[in-house]
Amino acid sequence: MSGHGTPIPMTSHASTGLSGQADVPGDKSVSHRALILGALSVGETKITGLLEGEDVLDTAGAMRAFGAEVTRDDDGTWHVHGVGVGGFAEPEQVIDCGNSGTGVRLIMGAMATSPISATFTGDASLNSRPMARVTDPLALFGARAVGRAGGRLPMTIVGAADPVPVRYAVPVPSAQVKSAVLLAGLNAPGETVVIEKEATRDHTERMLAGFGAHIATEVIDEGRVITLTGQPELRPQTIAVPRDPSSAAFPVCAALITEGSDVLVPGICLNPTRAGLFTTLIEMGADLSYENPRDEGGEPVADLRARFSPGLNGVEVPPERAASMIDEYPVLSVVAAFAEGQTMMRGVRELRVKESDRIDAMATGLRACGVSVDEGEDWWTVHGRGHGNVPGGATCAARLDHRIAMSFLVLGLATQKPVSVDDATPIATSFPVFEPLLKGLGADIRRD
Ligand code: S3P
Repeated sequence: MSGHGTPIPMTSHASTGLSGQADVPGDKSVSHRALILGALSVGETKITGLLEGEDVLDTAGAMRAFGAEVTRDDDGTWHVHGVGVGGFAEPEQVIDCGNSGTGVRLIMGAMATSPISATFTGDASLNSRPMARVTDPLALFGARAVGRAGGRLPMTIVGAADPVPVRYAVPVPSAQVKSAVLLAGLNAPGETVVIEKEATRDHTERMLAGFGAHIATEVIDEGRVITLTGQPELRPQTIAVPRDPSSAAFPVCAALITEGSDVLVPGICLNPTRAGLFTTLIEMGADLSYENPRDEGGEPVADLRARFSPGLNGVEVPPERAASMIDEYPVLSVVAAFAEGQTMMRGVRELRVKESDRIDAMATGLRACGVSVDEGEDWWTVHGRGHGNVPGGATCAARLDHRIAMSFLVLGLATQKPVSVDDATPIATSFPVFEPLLKGLGADIRRD
């Protein structure tokens, strides 16, 4: 778990010529799902390329607590011996999901239609995040939830002994909510239907189909209608986890703003529901290309090449793109600080309920570094200062949020004065090799 140990302050200093290959770890979303669906199938699922970050390791621990056998070979291959749909055992202890909203929400869904109870908790960040968005639809299946005020963790879910299938229109654009409902629907008889207005990441749908579930998506004017037939026998799979585009964002953006850089980031998952940042960067004038596009493990993949891009322009990021880059706005706001003109980001209310309030966290730190930022409840604008003109020189609060910590460390690579973060430990939740990887490219990042 992050943020419970001694804080590790870090500072990034002006750097030049980042170069080489950045092998970023496996995708976090796919990794959680591979463990959970492996645990819900009968037999052995083999996973290579699993992200071994704290969030995913907490999910592996949770799957063991629900009765699956989860092991790791010395070569990094993971094995999950699943218990089958409806086969979860009641955990003997509280399930601690650490910092991970994805972990806790998906697991709540996966256990909510079994006749067991489980109590969930997390770190201070996770325990302040809203859970009603998941427990509301789980109640429709017959599950009950008792938590703290405002639907906060710690929380106990009493699974439905006699679940009924559900038809649910997701009120917020959230793959976590969609996935929780689909995972709950696995152990309900009949068809569970989820309707989403805006397309969110579809790894759950793809992977459920891969495990042999009957699942179909119909695109209609109102959005996407996803229909899952309950109580399948899921067949164990061999899963090669593609590399995480949300982690790739950091070396890519670092290269774009750092003079003389040329960085290759190979094997990145470019599922269209995840690739919005790269589209936006290209619109801003970034020297960014996709090389060697291919398909790996049911996901489109390519190598990204990013070179220093001195002539970036501010853009307006359309709200309909938000879901496909929801985790990348913090680092986009860093690139926007080095662009000419304003970058306006709309339709991003969800940023306020992530691991931190990401609009507030970034706006506060950017302002302290001499960048002006305007914000409203669901939008923000960064006023770019152009390359070479961003002052820096502040210590920014990471707020137990990995992406905030990494974004400010990228910022400091191209500011006039160094930029510090008060605590870099949360980075281990999603990108444990961030520090050596960036340093290996030539970034001057130091522990204080
Ligand atoms: C995730 C979905 C997103 C994202 C999170 C991972 C997932 O959250 O922010 O990092 O794996 O389903 P929401 O679906 O709540 O937007």
